[in-house]
Amino acid sequence: MRVARRMHKIPPYMFAELDRRRAALKARGVDVISLGIGDPDLPTPDHIVEALIRAARDPATHQYPPYEGTREYRQAVADWYARRFGVALDPNTEVLALIGSKEGLAHLPWVFVDPGDMVLVSDPGYPVYGTAALMAEGEPYPVPMSRERGWVPDLGAVPPDVARRARLMFLNYPNNPTAGTAEPGFFAEAVEFAKRWDILIVHDNTYSEIAYDGYRPPSVLQLPGAKDVAIELHSLSKTYCMTGWRIGFAVGNPEAVRALAALKMNIDSGQFAAVQAAGVAALRGPEEPTRSRVAVWQRRRDAAVAGLRAIGFDVAAPRATFYLWVPVPAGYDSVGFTAHLLDHAGVVVTPGAGYGAGGEGFVRVSLTVPDERVHEAVDRIRSALSEPAGRPAEPSGRR
Ligand code: MLT
Repeated sequence: MRVARRMHKIPPYMFAELDRRRAALKARGVDVISLGIGDPDLPTPDHIVEALIRAARDPATHQYPPYEGTREYRQAVADWYARRFGVALDPNTEVLALIGSKEGLAHLPWVFVDPGDMVLVSDPGYPVYGTAALMAEGEPYPVPMSRERGWVPDLGAVPPDVARRARLMFLNYPNNPTAGTAEPGFFAEAVEFAKRWDILIVHDNTYSEIAYDGYRPPSVLQLPGAKDVAIELHSLSKTYCMTGWRIGFAVGNPEAVRALAALKMNIDSGQFAAVQAAGVAALRGPEEPTRSRVAVWQRRRDAAVAGLRAIGFDVAAPRATFYLWVPVPAGYDSVGFTAHLLDHAGVVVTPGAGYGAGGEGFVRVSLTVPDERVHEAVDRIRSALSEPAGRPAEPSGRR
């Protein structure tokens, strides 16, 4: 069987690959601590689960849902936006339900990119942006980010001939994998850039609610004129610990929302209406469950940062996301250090190079395991540092 040529352009999905390696180690009896994928270990709040159960008992939810999302879900999204960001949205034209934000991110290039068009992706960045551009036969253009610039891309460094050919620009703040944050000043620059070059900003705001020390991440749509050039995607996955439920939304520019909906109605038939009812309960429900989950991640952040600094890592304490972006020790690259931690510590992290060349020199640590496992992971990493680089451990699975 021959797969399409475009399939050869995309690498294996990093998290599926890590999962495979984790399962192989586990099968050998190794007690693996997975600080790889950002999949919260904390449960979905009860009132959301109860809403699903109630809705699933209502036969009205058993038929196809409306393509664009239920009216109640879209209204709940619009009301949440008004409360959280002070941004007014028309639920009929500016809100679209998604089967998780990843689904929307992956489909957007199909809607806006012709073969040979360019797509600006931050480097490092969430791998789906570049892969989705390739699937639409566009050309991802990596816009470099650096620690010195606070992990926001230098738009001034995008050559004019690239900007002219670009149709989309993916942004993501709070950022995955670097945990960098962006100020409204950066978004103002991005909006101006998008207007000058006629580019649609796709802002992935998945981590907007996972923030610490009083920080409240903004929406790009708060910027004057942003709705002319931006669509923003959210996920309920991280805010409400609902990764398995597959529910998110896209909001903003009505033309972009309509175009994405037009594609989606030819591909999927919407998310189960009962899951959307649970989404309404999440968006309209108490904020305390999210606050208490964020407090747990903050505690883990503090413990992991202190522990890693104590063993020599120059790691920044992020003010958002549940990720640490950790420089690898001298003598390793990111893939080598990831392999070393797997072999000698039974700890899974993600190699920075998996997020683009700009991620080299770092690994991402996800704080989505219980506190005691975070402590244990730091202890194991300390022991692994005393093992010489490059020598695999005995395959005995002693841990
Ligand atoms: C992450 O850990 O970056 C994401 O949760 C992975 C994914 O969406 O597949």
